[in-house]
Amino acid sequence: MPKLTIIAFDGTQYDFDVQNGSTVMENAVRNSVPGIEAECGGACACATCHVYVDEQWSATVGPPEAMEEDMLDFAYEVKPTSRLSCQIKISDGLDGLVVHVPERQA
Ligand code: FES
Repeated sequence: MPKLTIIAFDGTQYDFDVQNGSTVMENAVRNSVPGIEAECGGACACATCHVYVDEQWSATVGPPEAMEEDMLDFAYEVKPTSRLSCQIKISDGLDGLVVHVPERQA
């Protein structure tokens, strides 16, 4: 089972064993990680599940697709490593993934 680490804005680290095919957002919400609101439920239509992919993982996770990139325009303090966590699907290739929660959502 892949491992996922989410680091909240206050520095608290949340470590989970996660299912392949689940999204980073789903795991964050299910485990009540603070700062991930996910108002649209994962439809790539709200930008309130914004995270920063850890620098070491950025290339592996890859860039957002066009629709996600458009939604990221509504996110707060977007950086080159910004992604919408509902659009990051867990796979064995992302075992050990680390993402950071921004100070606030849009
Ligand atoms: S949950 Fe709404 S865009 Fe990700």
